[in-house]
Amino acid sequence: MILDAQHPLSSGLTADSRLIQAYQGTRPAVTPVWFMRQAGRSLPEYRELRVGTRMLDVCLDPALASEISLQPVRRHNVDAGIFFSDIVVPLKLVGVDVSIVAGKGPVLGKAVRTRADVDELTALDPALLDTALAPISAAVSLAVSQLGSTPLIGFAGAPFTLAAYLVEGGPSKDHIHARALMHVEPDAWAKLMAWTAEVTGRFLRAQVLAGASAAQLFDSWAGALSLADYAASVAPASAAAIAHVRDLTYTVPGAADGAEPAESVETWRNVPIVHFGVGTGELLKEMHNIGADVVGVDYRVPLDEANRRLGGAVPVQGNVDPALLAAPWPVLEAHVRDVLERGRTAPSHVLNLGHGVPPDTDPDVLTRLVNLVHDVSAAE
Ligand code: CP3
Repeated sequence: MILDAQHPLSSGLTADSRLIQAYQGTRPAVTPVWFMRQAGRSLPEYRELRVGTRMLDVCLDPALASEISLQPVRRHNVDAGIFFSDIVVPLKLVGVDVSIVAGKGPVLGKAVRTRADVDELTALDPALLDTALAPISAAVSLAVSQLGSTPLIGFAGAPFTLAAYLVEGGPSKDHIHARALMHVEPDAWAKLMAWTAEVTGRFLRAQVLAGASAAQLFDSWAGALSLADYAASVAPASAAAIAHVRDLTYTVPGAADGAEPAESVETWRNVPIVHFGVGTGELLKEMHNIGADVVGVDYRVPLDEANRRLGGAVPVQGNVDPALLAAPWPVLEAHVRDVLERGRTAPSHVLNLGHGVPPDTDPDVLTRLVNLVHDVSAAE
């Protein structure tokens, strides 16, 4: 499907931005930078807005969700906004009893542990999201209308990470119940994954249609899986989730100059898709193969090694260790320069953290880091 003419990729507003260039595999003159979890608790203006509110209520309030998405863009001069929401929002909107407990994360009213539980959950009709996602679309449009030429990244949780919360009933260290269900009840597992893929895929598509210029799938807990289990029992569902945005295209002016008269002067592009996981160094190739354009790398695998594992042809995103945000500036600076240097081995590189911004991070360090990345990469 072609994005409508007002979409910032189609209108050209964001299509030439550093972020979209890098995601499309072209190295821009200056390396783009944004931070996972840049919108949130590290910002005093966020904490102020959040007083007396519940996380999921805020996610469903278009004015608040939009404002919080913009806060880090205004403050840090990052090259992208990420939409403020949460991976469990589409579960809530389809009727799952889920809440977000401060300091803990998503907690389910009831864990999905048996075949009967899966049947009960999957009886909730994903088509309900056609109307239930209206506040999300409204929040994205509002944010995009204020971001101008800065792209907004839409996101969703990958089916495994969502299933991990659903089956465990909340946060878990080893995701043992989810991994057990995969083998004890393979049919129920497949049904759960297919349902989750549809729910999260619709959430992602709604954000892109409303104006997001890129889409990121978070498989935060896929690092708990072996490569064999990932490939057989998880990757197909992640591919199905991504398929919800894979068909979305736009055109950019082509190489009109050297073109023969008969040649089209427009080039077709798909909305870039980023796939990120934590502890997924062994899965990088598979994570690319499900239909991603860009692979997000956590802080454990250096980018030159990640690029080697990916065959040298895939744009990478990452991977400053969030722990170093608390280190003395010269230590952090040396680390960031090293990340930039290793990132130069890949076709293109978007600098990010290897996981989210820790809540106690000094926001001034993030602003200084953005300037460093822009200055160092421009000088190369
Ligand atoms: O700036 C951004 O990155 C956009 C906002 C965003 C949130 N959650 C807001 C949030 C994004 C992209 C997410 C994704 C998300 N949510 C993931 C994948 C990314 C990752 O970090 O691995 C996961 C696993 C979740 C589930 C979840 N929701 C967790 C683990 C938590 C944190 C629990 C805590 O309090 O430490 C949440 C809650 C949450 N989501 C908060 C925010 C800002 C904190 C709630 C608050 O501010 O009160």
